[in-house]
Amino acid sequence: MKEVRTQRRAVCPMSMNLSQIPSPCFVLDEARLQTNLALLRRVQEETGAKIILALKGFAFFHAFDLVREYLPGCTASSLYEAQLARETFEGEVHVCAPVYLEGEMRDIVQHASHITFNSLSQWEHFKTVLPPQGVSAALRINPEHAEVETALYNPASIGSRLGVTADELGPHLPDGIEGLHFHTLCECGADALERTLAVVEAKFGGLLKQARWLNMGGGHLITRDGYDVDLLIRLIHDVRARYDVEVILEPGAAVAWRTGVLTATVIDRVERRGVRTLMLDVSFTAHMPDCLEMPYKPDVRGARDPEPGESGWRLGGMSCLAGDVVGDYVFEEEPVVGQRIVFEDMMHYTMVKTTMFNGVPHPSFGIWRRNGTFDVVRRFSYDDYRSRLG
Ligand SMILES: Cc1ncc(COP(=O)(O)O)c(C=O)c1O
Repeated sequence: MKEVRTQRRAVCPMSMNLSQIPSPCFVLDEARLQTNLALLRRVQEETGAKIILALKGFAFFHAFDLVREYLPGCTASSLYEAQLARETFEGEVHVCAPVYLEGEMRDIVQHASHITFNSLSQWEHFKTVLPPQGVSAALRINPEHAEVETALYNPASIGSRLGVTADELGPHLPDGIEGLHFHTLCECGADALERTLAVVEAKFGGLLKQARWLNMGGGHLITRDGYDVDLLIRLIHDVRARYDVEVILEPGAAVAWRTGVLTATVIDRVERRGVRTLMLDVSFTAHMPDCLEMPYKPDVRGARDPEPGESGWRLGGMSCLAGDVVGDYVFEEEPVVGQRIVFEDMMHYTMVKTTMFNGVPHPSFGIWRRNGTFDVVRRFSYDDYRSRLG
């Protein structure tokens, strides 16, 4: 089940000096990324499975020199992500999109090593465009077994547009299809994969025997404390032994889990009818949209949830959206204008989802290096805002 993030844990090293970091800024902690990657490498080494990075969750290519040392490739959900993978990562480029557009398949095949189709009609439509060699094709299947409660993140609901159902397929894989792909998890444990695999095998076991590879999608939160890595390893071994398939996992969140922060600053304090709000130089809707979409309350360093009856501070975004607020929080010390606010765990599904809605300034991107130095690798300006609009 999707985790409710309530833990209070600092992400950045204690030595991180906020005065060196501009505000607002997404800051990647390279050492923590390396720790996550090392665990993913262990899983690969102990199972023979491939773990590739889902760019939709983490596409900070300034960190790819490090990621490339541990993971053999990327998975892309569009032509642009495929091109980014080819240009900045190299290695294998898997592409899995809900639909492919008429004009883009010829470009996708230039970048892709593997392409997964979401429907038999799209496969039929595009199969003649695929080169005879060099690109391996697959079908996304939907076992219709849901482990995710939040509808927005549940691809396995009945009637879902994502993935071919068992009754659409006959007993044989379509000619030319070498792989099967399922993605039904989101921030899940290995127990959820175990239950899902049981259904996949019951419904698609005959087809799995004909496949060369099985991609088990993302949603495996392997790097979260308490994830049952040994169970994952056993499950992969079992699948490989039973079906003689190559196994691929394509997590996004697990790669960047707890690897960085978003720093912000208190610009103003307002109090209206007893509601106290800290006005920040960031926006939830523009910079942390999952906080409103999921929704979830991000951890803030040095702050906690109010006890019943205790009043706290609401955190207010700088856009005009009425609901651009999250909270409340009780701070260890009374918050003041000019104070830094540090949002924890802001690397996955944040930088990839930001917008410049309202024309609000976009946070810079920085890297806290393993050697203790800090680099700003990207600043944004008015030109970035304007260029997207015309
Ligand atoms: C097809 C597919 N693969 C992989 C992922 C990555 O999932 P996560 O970041 O939860 O590991 C997603 C996320 O939506 C996805 O849709």
